[in-house]
Amino acid sequence: MSEEHGVPSFHIDQVHHPEQDLIVGVLDDQARLPGVVRMRQWARDALAVLPGDTALDLGSGTGSEVVELARLVGERGRAVGVDPNPAMLSLAQERAGEVKTEFVEGSAYALPLPDASVDAVRCERVYQHLDDPAKATAEIARVLRPGGRVVLIDSDWATAVYHPGDPEIIGKLTQRMASTSPNRNSGRQLRGLLAGAGFVVDDIGSEAVIWEPDMVLPMYTMITERGVAEGIITEAQRDALIADIDRGVAAGDYHFSVTMFAVVAHKP
Ligand SMILES: C[S@@+](CC[C@H](N)C(=O)[O-])C[C@H]1O[C@@H](n2cnc3c(N)ncnc32)[C@H](O)[C@@H]1O
Repeated sequence: MSEEHGVPSFHIDQVHHPEQDLIVGVLDDQARLPGVVRMRQWARDALAVLPGDTALDLGSGTGSEVVELARLVGERGRAVGVDPNPAMLSLAQERAGEVKTEFVEGSAYALPLPDASVDAVRCERVYQHLDDPAKATAEIARVLRPGGRVVLIDSDWATAVYHPGDPEIIGKLTQRMASTSPNRNSGRQLRGLLAGAGFVVDDIGSEAVIWEPDMVLPMYTMITERGVAEGIITEAQRDALIADIDRGVAAGDYHFSVTMFAVVAHKP
């Protein structure tokens, strides 16, 4: 399984891998980060979903935001999660329990919904895993009714801030990671993708999401081990970087963040 920043790959060709628990654990850890909680609340407010609406979470993962949408659309509305990963869909359905939700297997490139049938779409941290984000944006435009709203949220990995650690070693490791991801600088592209698909952009927001040490330490272990295995850094450089991080975490002097951007738009 390919990984980035200690995060499993969510590329569509990786949906049937056996490490489902790892994926769910990563999504649950990230959902608890205060920056993610704030960004989701901001996006929910901006999307302004109403009772009776049909609302879609594209790439719904564990389904937690579909449950939030279900509360907003009420009994008369529809809250739909679409994801290509069948195991993730089962987990989401199970977690939703009695809440009225629909989880449907599908891809951003061919949404399983009719034209102009949806009032609101949210899509979070999915575009960075897409090879063809413009095609996905055209699909969102197809399923939204005129006046329908969309919020795209995604990280932009070029904004990652690593502290402490030798910048030269970190630079080598991040350069390697940049070459593995299909759409790593997705955050900055969201506005242009929406404008290019004919949407009217209404608002744009951002949040530098700060990771906790229990997420930071596995991330450094993973990227330095891979760096050594691929000859990008030496064992001595790996040990020096890990020692710097350990010292930093012990002293409370560490920082890892990546900025998430969100763009709100509507279909004219
Ligand atoms: C990083 S997870 C984000 C999940 C959720 N949106 C969240 O923010 O917690 C990426 C999700 O995108 C889904 N995904 C990957 N490729 C996709 C595609 N082509 N179409 C729709 N979803 C896709 C994955 O299965 C996974 O559930």
